[in-house]
Formats: sequence, C-alpha cells, structure tokens
Amino acid sequence: MKYGITLIPGDGIGTEVSEAAVRIVEACGPDIEWDRVDAGAGAVDKHGTTLPEEVLASIRERRVALKGPLTTPVGKGFVSVNVTLRKKLELYVSLRPVNTLAGVKTPYEDVDLVVFRENTEGLYSGLEHEPVDGVVETLRVSSEHAARRLTRFAYDWSRFEGRRKVHLVHNASDFKLADGQFLEVAHQVASDYPYIETRDILMTQACMQLAKAPEGFDVLIMENLFGDIMSDLCAGLVGGLGVVPGANIGDRYAVFEAVHGSAPDIAGKGVANPIALTRSAALMLKHIGERDAARRIERSIGRLLERGETLTPDLGGSASTSQVTDAIIREL
Ligand code: NAI
Ligand code: MG
Repeated sequence: MKYGITLIPGDGIGTEVSEAAVRIVEACGPDIEWDRVDAGAGAVDKHGTTLPEEVLASIRERRVALKGPLTTPVGKGFVSVNVTLRKKLELYVSLRPVNTLAGVKTPYEDVDLVVFRENTEGLYSGLEHEPVDGVVETLRVSSEHAARRLTRFAYDWSRFEGRRKVHLVHNASDFKLADGQFLEVAHQVASDYPYIETRDILMTQACMQLAKAPEGFDVLIMENLFGDIMSDLCAGLVGGLGVVPGANIGDRYAVFEAVHGSAPDIAGKGVANPIALTRSAALMLKHIGERDAARRIERSIGRLLERGETLTPDLGGSASTSQVTDAIIREL
C-alpha cells in the first residue's frame, strides 16, 4: 500500500528534525508519498499568511499529517497556527504518551502514562476582550459535546491499549458549572467501561501526586488549559521536550507532532534532538496501521538511549542531529 501523507517541516529546528524523522520512517519500509507544504513563520513571505489554504487542503485530502513545530509571530495580528489547525480540522483530542526511557536519567522509574487533553475549546477559544480600559476578560468555553467526544475517545483508546485506570482531572470545587459538567459527562461515558477503574482527582492534587509518585497514574483526561500545563509537566518527568511525542486526533483527520517548539536558541546548529518528532512519526505509523514499523522505530530509539553513546546535547551527549538519525537507522 502507498500512503499519501502531508509533511509540514516547520520553523526553526523543525526542518532539521522533520528531515530526520522522514529518513527514519523511510528506512523502516512503509511506502509513503510526502506532500510537503509550508506553514508558520516560514510561510508568511511566500503566502502572506501563517496558514495557507493549501495546507488545510492537503491534510483534508490525505487525512494524516506529520508536522514540525511552528513559530507564531508575536503581535502583528497573527493567530496561533496550531490552535487554528486544531479547530479547523476538529482535532479534538490531544494525546501524549509519557513513559520512562531506559538510559535517560530522571528522578523517576516506571512512569508509563497517557495524557488526554481537550484540544478545541476551554480558555483557548480565542475569546478575549477589554470591556473597560485595563480590564481584560478571557472566556473559557466548556461544552458537553466536547467533554463527551474526548472522554469517549480516551476510554475506547484505553480499552484497546489495555489501560486499567483513568483519572479525571478537574477543579469542580472552583469551576462548579464547567468542571461539574465535565465530570458528569465523563462518568456517563465511564459507565460503559466498568472494567476500567475511574477516579476523580483535583488538578492541584494531580500535580502534587505527579511530582511525588507518577508511577501511580495510567490515563489522565482533562480540559484544555489543565492539559497544556500538565502534559508539559509530564514530559519533564521522563526527560523533557526532546523525547516526548504527541498527536492531535479528530474523527476525520490526525496531525502528529512533537511537544517542543521551534527552539530558536539552537536552530540551524544541527544539534536538535530528532527523537521527539520521530516518536511522533511512530505514533502516526501506528495510526495508519503500520504497527510493525512503529514498534521497530520505538525499539531502535530505546536501544540507542540505553547504549547512551550517540546522544544530542539536551540528553548530555555531543552528537549532532544527523549522527543520532544515522544511529537510529543502524539500529533498525
Ligand atoms: P521550545 O520548545 O522551542 O524550546 C524550549 C527549550 O527546549 C529551548 O531551550 C530549546 O532549545 C529546547 N528544545 C526544544 N526542542 C528541542 C529538541 N528537539 N532538541 C533539543 N532541545 C530542544 O519552546 P519556546 O522557546 O517556548 O518556543 C519557541 C517557539 O516555538 C515559539 O514561537 C512558540 O510559539 C513555538 N512553539 C510551537 C509549538 C508547536 O508548533 N507545536 C509548541 C511550542 C512552542
Ligand atoms: Mg504546549
């Protein structure tokens, strides 16, 4: 089978790490025809916008995209490309698997959890105004519909992946209506999965427990802002931005991307860690049914990290992006 997949190389280190991910995926076997399109700061000169229509058209036609990080120019009225992509393509699930990697030094062992974050509303609805000089209102939108489709996806996914315990992360003591509704809807969905243990946990409690004993968590589900914060916190538990993958998934489309941004401080130096985006590409392969290729990539990265010889500076090594890429390909 030949797959058509949209590739958005991205800004800053994006071009470096997406080139690496493409090389590794291609070395792995699946026959992919990449449609390369530009978005973000890099698209502005050529197209006058950070999100050219051809980007959306390409993903709508191919359904799946691999995306490097995008820089949203500050000011000048540019909206965040990432937020816009998620909304326009209704990528309502942000999924981030976070697991301990042998060879990557952290204070924790045996972390193996997945964060599900609502990806289309909450405080990221873009509804801000200044009713009175010096007073700004930012609206947090919470719909029953969004809570239901997110939790349904997360529980189905948990069942197929053999996950046993779900924490519903909330702050219903302060946001009685919004988080109260989230909990009510989530428990309705949860009742269809009696063999998965469901617990409620206050967002602040979850932060404390994650810092103390993250091994106790399996699946976490939450609204957009809590998820933004907590998913980066969780990335920090296992070695940081250079190694953690992510996916944005909806009913019709899916966009796979690393957690990190365009890292302007190291862009162009050839030292960016390609592992996070490559693992995102592995999630993408799993999504399209190429599970064997996905497993081979994960295992190769696991062996490379365990050996600890060829690592980029963020992991304490001195290897370049292309040396790490070559080493992963050799492990395949
Ligand atoms: P960042 O993730 O780009 O960088 C934070 C720190 O982590 C930097 O010191 C950077 O060098 C390091 N880092 C990140 N990825 C790395 C990698 N693969 N290998 C080695 N080191 C790595 O976050 P920052 O600086 O806050 O944002 C920079 C730009 O990226 C901003 O314009 C922001 O809007 C954008 N961004 C885009 C995202 C996306 O497209 N999904 C996500 C986050 C930020
Ligand atoms: Mg973030």
